[in-house]
Amino acid sequence: MDQPITTPRLSLRPWRRADAPAATRIFGDPQVARWLAPALPPVPDETEMTRTIVRWQAETGVPGEPVGHWAITSRGGDDVVGGVAVRDLGTGDGDYELAWQLAPAAWGRGYAAEAARALAVAVLDRSPVDELLALVRPRNRRAAATARRLGMEWVGETDKFHRLRLQVYRLRRADLLPSLLKEAARSRVLRDGQLAVAHPEDLLPALRIP
Ligand SMILES: CC(C)(COP(=O)(O)OP(=O)(O)OC[C@H]1O[C@@H](n2cnc3c(N)ncnc32)[C@H](O)[C@@H]1OP(=O)(O)O)[C@@H](O)C(=O)NCCC(=O)NCCS
Repeated sequence: MDQPITTPRLSLRPWRRADAPAATRIFGDPQVARWLAPALPPVPDETEMTRTIVRWQAETGVPGEPVGHWAITSRGGDDVVGGVAVRDLGTGDGDYELAWQLAPAAWGRGYAAEAARALAVAVLDRSPVDELLALVRPRNRRAAATARRLGMEWVGETDKFHRLRLQVYRLRRADLLPSLLKEAARSRVLRDGQLAVAHPEDLLPALRIP
């Protein structure tokens, strides 16, 4: 899965080496880095960021694999405002994480929820994966709010991952429906009481609930 994904305001596409300066500003920012799991220091420079981007590229679009790392830009633009990813948590239990990060200047606009929702729809529709987890550091109020905005269900706290105490939220296919309808209403695709679907390829698959 490496085709670009569009949402009403955003585009998601695989990372490019040329994104290193923008990505360094995001992942090198202590306001972002302090909340990441595994715990890592802020990305120090563009060389280190480029290495990470090359690794992300190798992990994206592998046939049959739901995992991937996506740059978030404004729709049709090329200004990278953040990233969203699906990662194999490596437990052997089929645990996959949905993770999101934004440049602080882009917080407070609903971009993380919009991007993560679109990627979740694509993964849950086009792969055998039937649930995604979010791992949130305690006190990361904004990330927890985004998880709830996506319709994720609180599971509990665990130290199963990355040797950190983390709060776990879970998103199953059916959990997406209320969040998608809310988004549809917000995008003004509910017109005259009728659901006029702006992005059928995004919305309809999630409505096919087993
Ligand atoms: C986690 C993070 C992405 C959340 O950013 P965010 O902008 O708060 O996330 P959302 O997309 O859920 O946006 C919600 C905010 O946008 C506002 N908003 C504005 N327009 C909106 C719209 N059209 N739709 C939805 N929300 C909208 C909401 O009111 C809310 O603002 P508030 O918190 O001030 O009430 C950001 O804080 C971050 O990058 N943190 C560091 C990395 C991190 O913690 N990642 C998670 C663990 S991997």
